[in-house]
Order: sequence, then structure tokens, then C-alpha cells
Amino acid sequence: MFRQSIRRFGTTALRAAEGSTAYAVRVSQAQGSVNGLTEAIGNTPLIRLKRISEQTGCNVLGKAEFQNPGGSVKDRAALFVVKDAEEKGLLKPGGTVVEGTAGNTGIGLAHVCRSKGYKLVIYMPNTQSQGKIDLLRLLGAEVYPVPAVAFDNPQNYNHQARRHAESLDNAVWTNQFDNVANRQAHIETTGPEIWAQTGGKIDAFTCATGTGGTFAGTTRYLKDVSEGRVKAFLADPPGSVLHSYVQSGGNLMDRAGGSITEGIGQGRITENLKPDVDLIDGSLNISDEKSIEMVYRCLDEEGLYLGASSALNVVAAKEVAEKLGKGHNVVTVLCDGAYRYAERLFSQTWLESKNLRSAIPKHLEKYIVLP
Ligand SMILES: Cc1ncc(COP(=O)(O)O)c(C=O)c1O
Repeated sequence: MFRQSIRRFGTTALRAAEGSTAYAVRVSQAQGSVNGLTEAIGNTPLIRLKRISEQTGCNVLGKAEFQNPGGSVKDRAALFVVKDAEEKGLLKPGGTVVEGTAGNTGIGLAHVCRSKGYKLVIYMPNTQSQGKIDLLRLLGAEVYPVPAVAFDNPQNYNHQARRHAESLDNAVWTNQFDNVANRQAHIETTGPEIWAQTGGKIDAFTCATGTGGTFAGTTRYLKDVSEGRVKAFLADPPGSVLHSYVQSGGNLMDRAGGSITEGIGQGRITENLKPDVDLIDGSLNISDEKSIEMVYRCLDEEGLYLGASSALNVVAAKEVAEKLGKGHNVVTVLCDGAYRYAERLFSQTWLESKNLRSAIPKHLEKYIVLP
């Protein structure tokens, strides 16, 4: 209706009508009404990072996944693993979803399950903070913190989650690491959104992996739609084996070391990553020093309050842009905000305990506001 009237009256009339109606043309399709929380997942903005773009002579763009209802990129995977279980007839009204997770997937699942009327049971290592347990409980989940033991121990939280689901009728273990409905979320949503938002003008995509769903699914879509033109670079934190896997042409080393980043880093090739591992054009190892500095830079230069995995992704995008040279368009993922990590990321004591205090440049020290 409004479009028609613009066409009828032309731009002069539109200019004359400056005021309330003129704003309507700026409202995007994604901001129309949607039916329930699940339809509010995805369709996130693609933000051009101004200073990093200027610095590299490229367009460095971040997909604002912190704008999802649950606050992270994992809402997409949560929705797709639940939808997949419904479609396969594994989950019927009133059923129970069980997952092993300490982080964003649990939060995404909690929102999706409440919205669809399912119960949610979460198993997590008992090394996790009380804050995470409380948050999941207040979002309606039943939470079991269990001893933190290795994956090959039957008491590992993932195996306990599987057994819990097996012990109930009308229940499913969503198994985010190896359930490829996770990757499918990004083939069907994240990838197409990035392609549409850039008008196909994208030269490279880069991000880190936890389950691998985001990287693999988005890469698969962008490679297919561009007939291989878009390059894909895997970004890896310390303590993850994927960078050395790519660099060595497929050797899996033992995991060593660790990182301050959460939700990313991997010791194996998950089922989500496996189908797309041959599409990887290169990989980058990003130090915690660079990631923490970028947390502060994004806040200061872009006004973006990001978690460390997002900051690592921005460092990777900057390095990919520098590698490709001026004039390229590089996209990455802003996975979540800093809210859940603020007590650590902006604390003097915590930074010192991780030997990261000196990674914060002088002019950014004002953001270290916690003791
Ligand atoms: C903060 C954060 N960043 C990145 C990721 C990685 O996403 P994916 O599991 O799709 O590889 C996760 C996954 O849990 C996460 O919580």
C-alpha cells in the first residue's frame, strides 16, 4: 500500500511528505510481525565495521548474531535441531528435549522449548559457574551439573544426556555436535542472509568453530551459490586442533593448551564439520592477546559489546582482509555479546591471572572497570 503510494506520487511527493511516513521506507522486511519467538530467530543485521574496514581498505562485515532472541548464534541451531526432531516424529507435543551444554545452545534451546511447549533437560560439567546454572533454571530448564570427565568416560555429560533421553518416552537428545540439523540451520538461513545482504559481493567468510555448524553450513551455502568463488577461512583459538589439521593437510594432533574464548575450539572433526572440511581454503590461529584487545577495540571504535569468540572472529576477518588486499568484502560472525562474560573480560584481577593485562593498549585501559 505504502509502496504503491510512493510510486504514484514519486520522489518529490515523498520528500514533501518528510515526517512520519518517510520513515516507513527504511523499515526492512525482517521487521514486519512474526508469529512467535521462533520466527524472530535469524534475519540479523550485517554490520560494516567502520574502523577495521578503513584500516584494511576492505569492507569487513559482522553478522550481528547477538541480536537473536536468546542472544547468540546458537538460537539458529537450537531451532533447527528441535524442528528436525519434530519432523522425524521423535518429538511430539509435551515432549522433552535433552542436551549436554554449558552455554549458548542451552539458552537457545530453553527459549525454543518454552515457545513450543517442550520440557528441557540440560546436563553440564559441574565446573561451570552458578550463574549459568541459574540462568538456565530461570529459563525453565531442569539442570544437572555432573562431574567433568573426558568424553570416553560413560559419565561424561553428553553420554548422561543421551541416556536420560533414552530413559523417557517422547524425548530426544539433540546432540548439537554431531546432529547435522545444526549445520542445516546455517545452510538455510545464515548463508542465504549473508548472500542477500551483500548482494553477492562477498569475497571471503571466516569464523571459529565449536560444533562447526556455523562455519560449515554458511561456508557450504556460500561456496555453492558463488560456484566456489567465496573463500572460506577457519579461525581457531589456542588449544584447538583444527588450525594444525588444516595446515598439516589432515593430521589430528592431541589437544594442548587452552583459551579464554568460550564456545569455540575443538579436538575432533565433528559430523557437522566433516561434509565441508574439504571446502576450507585456509586457517588462522588467533592468540588470546589479539582476541582480548579486539573485545576492547570493538567497544571503543564500533560501540559493539562483544564476547571473546566474536572478537576472535573480527581479528580473523581483519587478517583475511589484509591477506586478500584492498577492495575485498570479508564477512564474519558476531556470535554473542559480552554480558555473560563481563565479570572476567573487564576485570583487572582476571586479566592479570590470564597474563592478558598487557594486551590492553593504554588508551583502552579505561574499560577495565572491575577490580
Ligand atoms: C559464544 C560462541 N561462539 C561461537 C560458537 C561456535 O558456534 P558453532 O557451534 O556453530 O561452531 C559458540 C557455540 O556454542 C558459542 O557459544
